[in-house]
Amino acid sequence: MRALLLYLANREGFKDFSLRFKVFRNTAWRFVAGETVDDAVRAVKEINAQGIHGTLDLLGENTLSLDDARHATQEILDMLDRIKSEALDCNVSVKLTQLGLALGDESCLRNLTAIVAHARKLGNFVRVDMEDSGYTQRTLDLVCRVFREMDNVGTVLQSALYRSEKDARELIAQGIRIRLCKGAYLEPESVAFKKKSDTDASFVAITKLLLDSGMYHAIATHDEAMIKAAKEHAAARGMPRDRFEFQMLFGVRRDLQQRLAREGYQVRTYIPYGRRWYPYFMRRLAERPANVAFILRNFFKG
Ligand code: FDA
Repeated sequence: MRALLLYLANREGFKDFSLRFKVFRNTAWRFVAGETVDDAVRAVKEINAQGIHGTLDLLGENTLSLDDARHATQEILDMLDRIKSEALDCNVSVKLTQLGLALGDESCLRNLTAIVAHARKLGNFVRVDMEDSGYTQRTLDLVCRVFREMDNVGTVLQSALYRSEKDARELIAQGIRIRLCKGAYLEPESVAFKKKSDTDASFVAITKLLLDSGMYHAIATHDEAMIKAAKEHAAARGMPRDRFEFQMLFGVRRDLQQRLAREGYQVRTYIPYGRRWYPYFMRRLAERPANVAFILRNFFKG
């Protein structure tokens, strides 16, 4: 099921077919704040009121022209201005294929540099999301190049990939802040663990590296076993609860997000918005069969 949904995430034909059904579109709004920046701002204000930080993601990936990449870059620059003018407690997350990575490194680097420079001027931070393993090395290379000039950029590692523990050591050595997640993409066995228990063991091992680094990193998961492992390791080291943050997705385990914030941990919600929500939504469906069952049960009503 997971493999099928991740395959369909990249299929335009299935997208056109599924968008005809109201239940499909309506279920998407559980995971996506809306289509406009006003929707996104409203969502950030709501979570800020609960003592939770935000990170905004303008949805879009695999941009096919330099013009589209520039357009997305401009929208993200405007989003940064909006975060400032609304005094939101919120940074931004970007995907390099949205900024033109598939079209070449140099134009993508220019777009990323413009975003990080603007964020720095506004006192903000940019997180570069990690996409499928075909882009891992180039993403890390571009983030490192920008980081040499400006330190308000960080990136993401996926515990499912064999290489991530080594990548974590290298990024830490350079002082680059990391968000650790399990990995949302369909990967071949040559590069990624296939068993959940192996991905989880890798997640815990990298979590310990991050917490021991003395830097401020992010542990991005809804898995209570992973969260417990992070809490226990931090407590055993006598680390104050504000030296790292937990991150979770908009619409997933709100109860857990609020509980951790009440316990005094830093919590950040990843809030996606925009019209290009289809691949993101399909990855969320792939993570949890219950989400698909809900759509199927209501399919013929919508
Ligand atoms: P796991 O999948 O084991 O789920 C644990 C529990 O969480 C489930 O039992 C369920 O209760 C709940 N849950 C998880 N997903 C759910 C869903 N979709 N709907 C409802 N409940 C759900 N990936 C990537 O490849 N690159 C990236 O840059 C990012 N960025 C990112 C940022 C943030 C803030 C988060 C939280 C996640 C990402 N991810 C990501 C996605 C990540 O790789 C992973 O696919 C999801 O977080 C699901 O994995 P969990 O760690 O939650 O564990």
